[in-house]
Amino acid sequence: MGRDFTSILDISRDEMDLLLDLALGMKRDGPSQVLRGQTLAMIFEKPSLRTRTSFEMAMYRLGGNALYLSAHEVRMGEREPVKDVARVLSRMVQAVAARTYDHATVTELAHYASVPVVNALSDDEHPCQALADLLTLRERFGNLAGVRLTYLGDGNNIARSLAYASVMAGVHLTVAAPAGYELPSETVERALALPGGGSVTQTHDPHEAVRNAAAVYTDVWASMGQEAEAARRAEDFAGFQLNAEVMASAPADALVMHDLPAHRGEEITDEVLESPRSVVFDQAENRMHAQQAVLASILGG
Ligand code: CP
Ligand code: NVA
Repeated sequence: MGRDFTSILDISRDEMDLLLDLALGMKRDGPSQVLRGQTLAMIFEKPSLRTRTSFEMAMYRLGGNALYLSAHEVRMGEREPVKDVARVLSRMVQAVAARTYDHATVTELAHYASVPVVNALSDDEHPCQALADLLTLRERFGNLAGVRLTYLGDGNNIARSLAYASVMAGVHLTVAAPAGYELPSETVERALALPGGGSVTQTHDPHEAVRNAAAVYTDVWASMGQEAEAARRAEDFAGFQLNAEVMASAPADALVMHDLPAHRGEEITDEVLESPRSVVFDQAENRMHAQQAVLASILGG
C-alpha cells in the first residue's frame, strides 16, 4: 500500500482486499511486533473514543507507541501553520494520524509530511471506519461480493467512505437520505468509476431501501461540528430513524450497523441498537484490527 491513507481512494481494490485479509489474520492469530520502536503521533481536532483507543492499542499491540496531541495543545492553523506541524512531527515520529474538520487539513498534512498520514476522520471521509465495517461484514458473510448494504441517513463522511469501499468490495450500497442530504452526485460518480463490481444507488424511501438489505447502517444526524444544526436536522431526518418499523421492512436476519457514538431516540432506537441483530460492538472492535493492518502495511515494510 502507498504512503498515506487520507481516503479510501488512496488504496487500490487489491490493497483493500489484502488489508482485510491481514486484519482478519491479526484478529485470529494476534498481531506481531513489527512496529517496535516506531511512534504514531495523533492530532485530534474533535473528540473520540473508538478512534483514539483503537489507534493507541493498534500501535501498542504492534510493539510501537502512540502519542496523543489534543486540539487545545497543537491549535493547528492557529498557533502554527499546518505545514509546520507536518514538518516538525516528521522529524520525530514515523507516522501521523489526524482527525480534522476540514478534509483539506488532512491532505495538507500529507502533502508536507515526509512520514505517512492516516485520516482518523475528517468532515469528508472516515476511511478507517469503512475498513472496519467491511471487516465486520466479511466476518458475517464470508465473501463481500454481492452483499446488499443499506445506509439510512446523512450523506456524510461515513457514507462517502462506505460508498467508495463498497464499490471496490463488490458490495451493493443503497443510501436512503432525505432530500438535500444525499451523497453529492460527484461522489457517487467517483464511486461508480472504481473497479470491484459493487454499486451505489440513492433513494428517499427508507422502507424501500431496506427491503433486500443484508445489513442496515445508520449514523448521527448532526455530525461533530454541526451541533448548531441539530434541531433543524432532527426535523429534516424525521422518518429516517432506524427503528423496529423500518427493520420490519427488512429481511428478518438483516444486521444492524452504526459507527458509534449513537444518539438513541434520534437516528436509531435503543431497541434496535440493543437487538440481537446489532453488530455495532463488532464494528467498534474491528477498528483496532483494521488499523493494525493499515499501520503494519504502511510502516512494517
Ligand atoms: N466511530 C468513531 O470514529 O468513533 P469515535 O468518534 O469515538 O472515534
Ligand atoms: N458522522 C459522524 C461520525 C462520527 C464517528 C461525525 O462526523 O461526527
